[in-house]
Amino acid sequence: MKIISAALLDQAHNPGQIPSPPYPQVAVFGRSNVGKSSLLAKMMRRRKLVKVSSTPGKTRAIYYYLVNNALLLVDLPGYGFSKAPRGVANQWRSLVEAYLDKEPGPKLALHLIDIRHSPTKDDISVHRILAGRYIPSITVATKADKLSRSGVIRATNVIGRELGEPVELIVPASAKDASISADPLWDRILAETGITP
Ligand code: GTP
Ligand code: MG
Repeated sequence: MKIISAALLDQAHNPGQIPSPPYPQVAVFGRSNVGKSSLLAKMMRRRKLVKVSSTPGKTRAIYYYLVNNALLLVDLPGYGFSKAPRGVANQWRSLVEAYLDKEPGPKLALHLIDIRHSPTKDDISVHRILAGRYIPSITVATKADKLSRSGVIRATNVIGRELGEPVELIVPASAKDASISADPLWDRILAETGITP
């Protein structure tokens, strides 16, 4: 996909700040440190636009990036950070629940799973939350650069089995390896949402 423009449109640090933006939203879910912000930066071809952390749990707010004046990529805070105090987990829940309750909700979710690990309990419960709210989702296996080609196939099979999803629908992605393009993911996003960028 050709990126003509990309900019931070809005942000929400607490439930009361969640906007009702006039553009279709694609929301990015995933554990802390799974690579949400990095993948968004790659998808928008704007390395400096997106806040990427070396320490997990950095993205605590919701960030709305407007792409080509056509859609919003929504960077959500990560869940399941094992060292997070209970208060942070509750903060995640109340912010993300408020986000999901706000109209209009996301047209599509990208659910990011680290390709090197089986989906965690938290991953599975988020998968169920999305399904329970009838939010279509694309499972993205991040950090595919960390595995060999056959490792990627093996790992996506595990993720598909654990989430009860056909393996061919899982999109391997990498924010680091230029030879793994974000275009197949963009194509799926546009096909699923019917957005013309
Ligand atoms: P939170 O904001 O804490 O929820 O994390 P996040 O999901 O936004 O992850 P982020 O993009 O900040 O990346 C976390 C770490 O993983 C950083 O050190 C990144 O450089 C690294 N990383 C992200 N994507 C990739 C990838 O595709 N390949 C590799 N090798 N490393 C990656
Ligand atoms: Mg982040």
